[in-house]
Amino acid sequence: MSHLYKLIYPLIRPLDPELAHNLTVKALQSGLAGLAFNERDTDSPVLRTRVFGLDFKNPVGLAAGFDKHAQMPDAILKLGFGFTEAGTVTPLAQPGNPKPRLFRLTEDRAVINRFGFNSQGLAPFCKRLEKRKANPEKAPGIFGANLGANKESQDRIQDYVTGLETLNGFADYFTINVSSPNTPGLRGLQDKAELVDLIDRLKSVGTRAPLLLKIAPDVSDGELEEICETVVEKEMDGLIISNTTLARPENLKSAHASETGGLSGAPLFDLSTERLGRAYKLTGGKIPLIGVGGISSGREAYSKILNGASLVQLYSAMVFEGPALVQKVKSELRLCLKADGFSNVAEAVGQMVK
Ligand SMILES: Cc1cc2nc3c(=O)[nH]c(=O)nc-3n(C[C@H](O)[C@H](O)[C@H](O)COP(=O)(O)O)c2cc1C
Repeated sequence: MSHLYKLIYPLIRPLDPELAHNLTVKALQSGLAGLAFNERDTDSPVLRTRVFGLDFKNPVGLAAGFDKHAQMPDAILKLGFGFTEAGTVTPLAQPGNPKPRLFRLTEDRAVINRFGFNSQGLAPFCKRLEKRKANPEKAPGIFGANLGANKESQDRIQDYVTGLETLNGFADYFTINVSSPNTPGLRGLQDKAELVDLIDRLKSVGTRAPLLLKIAPDVSDGELEEICETVVEKEMDGLIISNTTLARPENLKSAHASETGGLSGAPLFDLSTERLGRAYKLTGGKIPLIGVGGISSGREAYSKILNGASLVQLYSAMVFEGPALVQKVKSELRLCLKADGFSNVAEAVGQMVK
């Protein structure tokens, strides 16, 4: 499979990145990519794990933003991911920012995006999930829905509540995305008073599905402490660490490095892993964490786990390495766990956090 992507990548690379993404979506939706990329599933019992009451066949998920409109969760799961997170979806359809808004930083193995929540809105998203729920042939794996707020909304917290009410029953878990850098003011919802209000109002919906909060890597130590305190106090089910960063490490080489937007991929690994480890320490392991940011190998996935992640997600590395990456990450991760004498993922969680 990796050989196949090596053949295809030179054809995709010169294309505008958003066009290339849309073509990939079409290929996955049509089942074509599935045929080409479906490989023997390497999941072993070592990779099976139970987190916030859900059984994952493996701990490697596709991060939000790839399948924004819930168009192909099953095709993604068939690639070998243990879970997939669709969205961010906003209540009303909105176009997002003007194009171009997606940039490949090839030399840096990184991506910058400033999509600004381009969304078809909840109605078509929900319709697809209704259809999926009735499909007995849906792929095994966990499905998460990532909720956002409309740019012009007068009551952003209500937007998350509306998302949860509308999709309740159609997703295995929900992510409350308060960390996109591309919707002005959104990250303010990470502040304590706003966060308490947000969680209280979400809890009043009374869903049985786990509720996770996705945070930015750019929060200060003090802000991270408050967030951790609040999510434990208010009994959120988990934290996803992290979204893209507004920071620009000095050593970026690509001509696109100064584009506005959120940076992801390899240069985000250290920052997001450090935030993850700190959050693990602050929460005392009381709630599960999902580690995301810059993973392109099983060793990096393992490092997230040792730093407190019960599950991991990736996105940007797939832009460069193609869908074969998930199988590579899983088999390397299994070897890392075995080499250190762990018989499952849960045993390794947080082992590097002092
Ligand atoms: C093109 C692109 C679009 C994204 N869109 C979203 C989004 O809609 N919602 C969200 O929560 N995160 C979004 N993200 C962030 C990813 O889910 C992830 O948190 C981040 O990219 C770090 O992981 P990575 O380094 O493996 O890409 C997006 C990332 C990229 C590259």
